[in-house]
Amino acid sequence: MKRTTLSQFINSVTDDSSKDSHRISDIIMTIALAGKMISRQVREVWLDGMVGETGTTNVHGEQVKKLDDFANEVFVELFRRNGLVGTLISEEMGAPVHVGSDDLAEEFLLTYDPLDGSSNIDVNVTIGSIFGLYRLPKDSSAEDVLLQPGSSLIACGYALYGPATNFVFWSEHTSVCCFILDMSIGEFRLTDRDMKIPENSEIYSVNDAHYPKWDSATQEVVDYLRTGRKESATRYIGSLVGDFHRNMLKGGVYLYPGTVDSPTGKIRLMYEAAPLARLAVEAGGKATDGYQSLLDIVPESPHHTCPTVIGSSKVVDEIIEIYSKNHTNKK
Ligand code: AHG
Ligand code: MN
Ligand code: MN
Repeated sequence: MKRTTLSQFINSVTDDSSKDSHRISDIIMTIALAGKMISRQVREVWLDGMVGETGTTNVHGEQVKKLDDFANEVFVELFRRNGLVGTLISEEMGAPVHVGSDDLAEEFLLTYDPLDGSSNIDVNVTIGSIFGLYRLPKDSSAEDVLLQPGSSLIACGYALYGPATNFVFWSEHTSVCCFILDMSIGEFRLTDRDMKIPENSEIYSVNDAHYPKWDSATQEVVDYLRTGRKESATRYIGSLVGDFHRNMLKGGVYLYPGTVDSPTGKIRLMYEAAPLARLAVEAGGKATDGYQSLLDIVPESPHHTCPTVIGSSKVVDEIIEIYSKNHTNKK
């Protein structure tokens, strides 16, 4: 008996009597389709002449790769065509873009990082696409209605382009579930319907070269992870989504702290930190900026960045304790 396909799985969790439930299912299927289209292009990048940069920079001042652009357009095209969500916020678009085609769409905001791990695109190392689906308050006329915290997420996940392509998501109607792309039929198949992140692990993932630029609390945290625990191992791919996926399976913690030059760090709340934080929490893990849950932070702008710590609950708890001790000592 072959494994359940994503379409079969989605059908089984969709409430037939609810328009809302149908809409969420259709949105998730569209994101999975985007994942398949991007996965195909990732594999062809050297053959299709899509290596390298476009020559432009994005809102974060980073060089845009041709594949970043392609992946962004895949999402825009698909959602412009079907009009299922009201608004899109993407790492690669300076401002939110309206694509909704009916009243129900206006209740949904889709945020995404079309390609996470851009520096790994041209070197054949795992990259992915991250998404968050937020429910917006009805009839809200507030200008900042799009600025929702991770606690308003109703679905989130990622597609991972590695040796195989995975699709991992959580929604109001499911646990965290994992699929793998069966290339022979072009469909994702279920590998785990209730992923749980191990409670403890020796693995920590951080860019250690930033050590001199961290504050003393963060330095103490990383010193502790390196030498203060029974066992310790560093694993850092440089693609948040890849490091996160490995840590989901093996346990571990991903950290991208702020630095003296950039106190809020690099990770974007609405389409990187919050969706992955929510996945980790729904899988039994924890997520913090050091002092508060990543799910409680209300973004000040669509591209808000925040210090990010996500992973196995025991390790994150220990990290929180070190930060809080330093905070109390400062008072
Ligand atoms: P993106 O490619 O979407 O810009 O995100 C890259 C992020 C994240 O994926 C990764 O962990 C981190 O940047 C790497 O940054 P450093 O090179 O500073 O470690
Ligand atoms: Mn990213
Ligand atoms: Mn990106």
